[in-house]
Parts: sequence; structure tokens; C-alpha cells
Amino acid sequence: MAVIETKGLTKVYNKDQVPVHALNGVDLKIEKREFTAIVGPSGSGKTTLLNIIGGLDSPTDGTAIVQGTDLSTLSDSELINFRLQHIGFVFQAYNLIPVLTAIENVAFVMQMQGRPQKECNKKSRTLLEEVGLADKINKRPSALSGGQQQRVAVARALSSNPDFVLADEPTANLDSVSTADLLDMMADLNEKENMTFVFSTHDQRVIDRARRVVTLVDGKIAKDDVREEHPNA
Ligand SMILES: Nc1ncnc2c1ncn2[C@@H]1O[C@H](COP(=O)(O)OP(=O)(O)OP(=O)(O)O)[C@@H](O)[C@H]1O
Ligand SMILES: [Mg+2]
Repeated sequence: MAVIETKGLTKVYNKDQVPVHALNGVDLKIEKREFTAIVGPSGSGKTTLLNIIGGLDSPTDGTAIVQGTDLSTLSDSELINFRLQHIGFVFQAYNLIPVLTAIENVAFVMQMQGRPQKECNKKSRTLLEEVGLADKINKRPSALSGGQQQRVAVARALSSNPDFVLADEPTANLDSVSTADLLDMMADLNEKENMTFVFSTHDQRVIDRARRVVTLVDGKIAKDDVREEHPNA
């Protein structure tokens, strides 16, 4: 079963005024263990697509199916729960909570899932070690570089053992060294732990690292390029 499947996904904003067709019938299947980049010009629908797959927005037409569940069949509260259990999010602007330390930021999602505090702390510590931040666990975001903050965001995305991680331009605010580091780390998690990553990007260095590149133009898939098999395939 595909981890993500969209059928005829369509999104029209401002339907009652001047309509904007952000997505025009996107059929996309993403399998477990993929490391896939969504690319395309500004305004081509990348964020819209990721938001709908992530259950943060709903389509005007068509369906988004995640792990066999059609997201449109879920109530608002079921959708919140579904997101918590199944999907890890990484955004362009890190989106960490400024008053919480790195470890508290990572533990936050697990706490919302109602897991015991001790387990939350232990797992958060392990995840921060995995992303190379063992010595920063008690630092607040303001004391971390952009690249380090984005590593915390990846650790947080992984904390709920999601089926996949969605990352909308995760390197947009990073310098080239931090970009390479973050990509190495994501590729490592993909290869060693088989974590599925779907990320949008404008950055050619990030595109070069993807195993599959899906190009959107005017809300449609213009190209779908599978470059290499997963190393564990
Ligand atoms: N909330 C909204 N209301 C109205 N129009 C929107 C909204 N969100 C996005 N759009 C429009 O939908 C289209 C697709 O936007 P989207 O943000 O998905 O593009 P993108 O590919 O992510 O672009 P970028 O590379 O600049 O991030 C654009 O024309 C945009 O202006
Ligand atoms: Mg975008």
C-alpha cells in the first residue's frame, strides 16, 4: 500500500471572487522509504500539495489518502489525532516554541499524545543525539543556529514515529553548510531507519540529493523523475 496517494487533487482558492487554481488534478503515489522532492516554480502548488497531504488544508475536489485513510472522511478532531499519530512536519521557519528548550520542543508532541513524561524525555534525548545535538538539549531556540533549530524540528517531527515526514522548503533559511548537513542527516535517517521523506525545495543542491523528483507546473505534475532505488531495496 502506498503511504500517500492523491487522486485528482484539486484546490481552488477564492472560489467566489477571482479564483486561483492552485492544484489541477494531481495524481501522486508515494511509497514507504521514498526520499522525494517536490519542485517547481513559485506558485506552482508545492505548499498547497504538502498541506493537503498533511491534513492541514482540504482539497476542493479529489482525494488524499494516507496509509489507506481518506482524509476527507475524518472529523476535525479525528484529523488532529491522525496528524499526531501519522505525520511529522518540518516547516521553512523552524516553528519551534521560543520559551521551550530543545528537549522540551521535541517532547511537546509526545506529551500531546499523552505519553508518560519519563518516556518523552528519554526518547527526546535519543532523537536529539541522533540529529547531532547531544550537547544542546537544554538550549532555547534563540541560542541555536538556523541549522541547529531545523535539526530540532526534524527530531520533533520524528518523535511520534510518523509514517512519513513532510518538509516544506526545510533548507530555505539555511546557509550552504547547514543545508548540506541537514540533507546528510535526512538521507541517513532515510537509509538507516527507512524513514519516508517528502520535501519541497527550490535549492538545486537539495534537488540533487533526492531519489525522486516530482515537478509541478501550474498545479499539475509536469514531470516525475525516479533516479535511483532505495539502497535497501
Ligand atoms: N490561502 C490562499 N489564498 C489564496 N490563494 C492562495 C492561498 N495559498 C496559496 N494561494 C495561491 O495558490 C497558488 C499556489 O501556491 P503555493 O503556496 O502552493 O505555491 P508554492 O509552489 O508553494 O510556491 P513557493 O515556491 O513560492 O512557496 C499560488 O498562486 C498562490 O498565490
Ligand atoms: Mg511554498
